Amino acid sequence: MSIMCASALLLSLLLLASTATASHFYGGSMSFSSRKNPDGSYKVDIRFKEAYHSCNLYDNWYCGSGNCGSKSYVMGKVDSSSNGGSWCQTEGVMKRTVLNNSPFQLRQSSCCWIFNTVTTGGNWGLLTNIDLGVRSDTSQPNRSPVATTLPIVRVPQNCPRNYNLLSCDPDHDQVRCRYGVFSANECGMCSQHAGFSLNQSTCTLSYGNSTTRGVYAFEFVMEDYPNQNITLNYTAMAAAVRTPFFNASSNPPLSKIPLQFALEVEAPAPSCIEGEYLPRFIHPTPHHGEHLQARVNQELEIRVKATATYSSITDVVFSGPLNSTKETTTTGEYVINWTPTSENFGQHFPICFAAEGQYGSRNYQSEMRCVIVVVEAEGPRAHVTCSRDTMSVSIERATIAGIHGDHLRLNNNASCLVYSNSTHVFTTFSLNGCGTQIEETEEHLLFKNTIVTFDNPNLIITRKNEIEIEVMCKYQKKSSVTTMFDAHRPAVNFTERGFGSFSYQFEFYQSINFINMRSPNTYPLDYDVGQTIYMEIAPVNVVQNTEVFLESCVATPYDNPNYPISYPIITNGCAVDETVNIYTSHDPSVKFSMEAFKFIGQYDQVFISCSIIICQANNPNTRCAQGCTNGTVVAPSSHVHKREAAIQTGSHFISQGPLRLKRSASLTEAISPSLNLNLVFVAGCVVAVVAMVCGMMVYKSRGSKINYKLVKSDEI
Ligand SMILES: *[C@@H]1O[C@H](CO)[C@@H](O)[C@H](O)[C@H]1NC(C)=O
Ligand SMILES: *[C@@H]1O[C@H](CO)[C@@H](O)[C@H](O)[C@H]1NC(C)=O
Ligand SMILES: *[C@@H]1O[C@H](CO)[C@@H](O)[C@H](O)[C@H]1NC(C)=O
Ligand SMILES: *[C@@H]1O[C@H](CO)[C@@H](O)[C@H](O)[C@H]1NC(C)=O
Ligand SMILES: *[C@@H]1O[C@H](CO)[C@@H](O)[C@H](O)[C@H]1NC(C)=O
Ligand SMILES: *[C@@H]1O[C@H](CO)[C@@H](O)[C@H](O)[C@H]1NC(C)=O
Ligand SMILES: *[C@@H]1O[C@H](CO)[C@@H](O)[C@H](O)[C@H]1NC(C)=O
Ligand SMILES: *[C@@H]1O[C@H](CO)[C@@H](O)[C@H](O)[C@H]1NC(C)=O
Ligand SMILES: *[C@@H]1O[C@H](CO)[C@@H](O)[C@H](O)[C@H]1NC(C)=O
Ligand SMILES: *[C@@H]1O[C@H](CO)[C@@H](O)[C@H](O)[C@H]1NC(C)=O
Repeated sequence: MSIMCASALLLSLLLLASTATASHFYGGSMSFSSRKNPDGSYKVDIRFKEAYHSCNLYDNWYCGSGNCGSKSYVMGKVDSSSNGGSWCQTEGVMKRTVLNNSPFQLRQSSCCWIFNTVTTGGNWGLLTNIDLGVRSDTSQPNRSPVATTLPIVRVPQNCPRNYNLLSCDPDHDQVRCRYGVFSANECGMCSQHAGFSLNQSTCTLSYGNSTTRGVYAFEFVMEDYPNQNITLNYTAMAAAVRTPFFNASSNPPLSKIPLQFALEVEAPAPSCIEGEYLPRFIHPTPHHGEHLQARVNQELEIRVKATATYSSITDVVFSGPLNSTKETTTTGEYVINWTPTSENFGQHFPICFAAEGQYGSRNYQSEMRCVIVVVEAEGPRAHVTCSRDTMSVSIERATIAGIHGDHLRLNNNASCLVYSNSTHVFTTFSLNGCGTQIEETEEHLLFKNTIVTFDNPNLIITRKNEIEIEVMCKYQKKSSVTTMFDAHRPAVNFTERGFGSFSYQFEFYQSINFINMRSPNTYPLDYDVGQTIYMEIAPVNVVQNTEVFLESCVATPYDNPNYPISYPIITNGCAVDETVNIYTSHDPSVKFSMEAFKFIGQYDQVFISCSIIICQANNPNTRCAQGCTNGTVVAPSSHVHKREAAIQTGSHFISQGPLRLKRSASLTEAISPSLNLNLVFVAGCVVAVVAMVCGMMVYKSRGSKINYKLVKSDEI
């Protein structure tokens, strides 16, 4: 009896397994390139993408015809989504060794396409023709076109849209697309759908504005034809001639690759205008068809940003090379990263992406954009050292082409210098100064700066050779103790002409009597929700006849005035947060307090950053005398006559922290629901910095982004 139970259980498990794996295919693609080994055999590098309901990590391609040789492969997930059916796209990198360059076919076929296709989930089939004959024009075996698509793209029924299946041929051949043919094993269902048209010479699939709602499977074949008559030489068979495409009865193409995906025609949208319900891409998203340069061993970063008036952006889905990753920044940008290896040198890699937005229970997808990444030789050799609060960079001059002498500086800050000797260019700068930008993603904290060339006023130099070298320190965020930025900040010193030198200190106190200062050794300071924070900004040495004015204060999760998200406490001298009390006015120091803010709960820690102005005491013409202006009163002129002593200084930045909220059960209640959505996004991830990941460099040659059309007619 127990045996029967076990077998019944096994049977139901099998049934479950088969229903889970049937009706699961979302399309696939393949591309290849090859090289001759010294022993006369050929090494073929093949990349293939497949998408199913769940992530498939097995290479199920078999040899369809010819001699396909031996293989090895690695596979990994590219991206996945749960909007509009749940899919996972994987890419496999297969290496085959074949003894000669005769043609062969790789195939894969099974059941079924995703269940809800208009023609209800029939069989699927993928086929690639690989012909390694030596071309008379390039003296190399042919390389296939490269192309990719998202596994499923979605369009509202009433909205016309074009999907350009961006193809790029590394041999500059003519690329064409057509529907697969059943008798040639190029497809499984082999349907050509009404309501759509395919431009075979541009590989553009156009949707009009009316067809039945549902999911359509598109099973295309992409082919490349030479631009002039060429011969293909083989080691083991007679040579063949290939001609440019003329009509359907032309000579065969050089190669044939599959490009299959699903397209869902969804319920009509209230509007087809991009940026209303349908997400619209905005700067800095690259344009469709753009060629982006990448360098071996340097991280390529593609930033994608989308907006929509009514929908909120929920994701950016993408299809790209194995090991590419996607991160979201706290400013709502999606960053696709990929670091090419030396094996990728000289190759082209397509990346496609689409933004998804949500309005109510409805999801809307943007157009699909694709770019081509061209991997160039190694970039500048540099050493980037990331410490707790500085970044040091040293670059070998010999590896940077077009560098002009000593005319280098850090971006946006002429006062932070870059030095050079005969062999190196080097600089060290602070992570919270010199215009260093800070950026946060789910897993990392990034500090970035750019070394740029600037014009030598004494020399006419060509702008062509201008360079930008982006340097970056990337730190892993971890939930354990922080070790970075956790130290008490020292006094801030500044000098103003006509006014003198000052040193001001920002301190926290135990209570309203401002007697017991919180010890610098106890930072970060812990607070309970609702506990009052007492703060004082005071001169280190009393300066006679001056008063200090608290112009503004904000709380930020990092001690960096460039951080894009902040919580305002005081603005224009006016309290913005209702728990703020300012105890002093027209005094040499300023004492104020506020309740341990609800918003600390969003972060692991916060800093309070203020700007202060020092004025001559009791002078009614100063900014200090005006107090809170609520943005309406025009500040008195700070203009100073040459021989007159200044009556006030400019604004000076002073900060202290970090402060932490004691973790308690009431934390979730403590998170104010009225805050900016960006802040809510940060909740849940604990922002603490421990382990340094790496220092790295992104190299951009200015004006290097070339329009696809231009590249096509030129040599790359
Ligand atoms: C192809 O073979 C022919 C005859 O064997 C030879 O003359 C020609 O140079 C070869 N072409 C290439 C590109 O190897
Ligand atoms: C395909 O697109 C090209 C370029 O836009 C155009 O010249 C051509 O006429 C189109 N072909 C068809 C069949 O529509
Ligand atoms: C949609 O189709 C209808 C008729 O089928 C046509 O009148 C209308 O112009 C089309 N709209 C767009 C935006 O193409
Ligand atoms: C290319 O080959 C085709 C067919 O083999 C032939 O008709 C045509 O004349 C050739 N063109 C040239 C430019 O040689
Ligand atoms: C293709 O072009 C050739 C040469 O002009 C012609 O003889 C043939 O009929 C055409 N075939 C088709 C299918 O159009
Ligand atoms: C992907 O990354 C893994 C681990 O970092 C590495 O072993 C592998 O070679 C990479 N694959 C490709 C194709 O870059
Ligand atoms: C140039 O500076 C680099 C970095 O400081 C140093 O390692 C190198 O030895 C210097 N070279 C010369 C020739 O002084
Ligand atoms: C330039 O960097 C210095 C040192 O970090 C800083 O004091 C100054 O405010 C910065 N200037 C600008 C314009 O960012
Ligand atoms: C400012 O000057 C004081 C001495 O007057 C010194 O102790 C302090 O470290 C200085 N602060 C900075 C940031 O240099
Ligand atoms: C600032 O102005 C706003 C309206 O413009 C008003 O509601 C607020 O009370 C004012 N605050 C102060 C401190 O005057």
